[in-house]
Amino acid sequence: MKILIINGPNLNLLGKREPEIYGHASMEDCLDDLRKAYPDVEIEYYQSNHEGCIIDRLHKTGFSTDHKGIVLNAGAYTHTSLAIADAISAIKLPVVEVHISNVHSREEIRHKSLISPVCRGVIAGFGLDSYRLGIEALLKS
Ligand code: DQA
Repeated sequence: MKILIINGPNLNLLGKREPEIYGHASMEDCLDDLRKAYPDVEIEYYQSNHEGCIIDRLHKTGFSTDHKGIVLNAGAYTHTSLAIADAISAIKLPVVEVHISNVHSREEIRHKSLISPVCRGVIAGFGLDSYRLGIEALLKS
């Protein structure tokens, strides 16, 4: 069984980007840990800084019968992208919204998510462990 993790803009810089908010570990470190923790799950990973590419990837995987679901950190598009919300509504697989930081303890603009209403659930504020919690949620659903 497979799970797809999608990261949106600027998340390619994890480990280098504002480490006081996002930590020092890279996404590659996180993926290594996840693949060790879930040897029976094929964890796919996709990152893009481009809204349309994220939508294309949601469409590509969103009707798969081999996948349990999608863990999505849409980065700043969370707060702006009706198009990503529409793509999540359009596909069949459940999507879990994750954030590394607790967006609700940050600037007000980050309190609003356009994608939360169409996601299965939301996990925020647990650092890179948010991705593991997203996988757990999909595996248990
Ligand atoms: C983020 C929170 C967003 O507000 C921000 O734009 C990001 C990362 C997080 O994982 O905490 O790029 O999604």
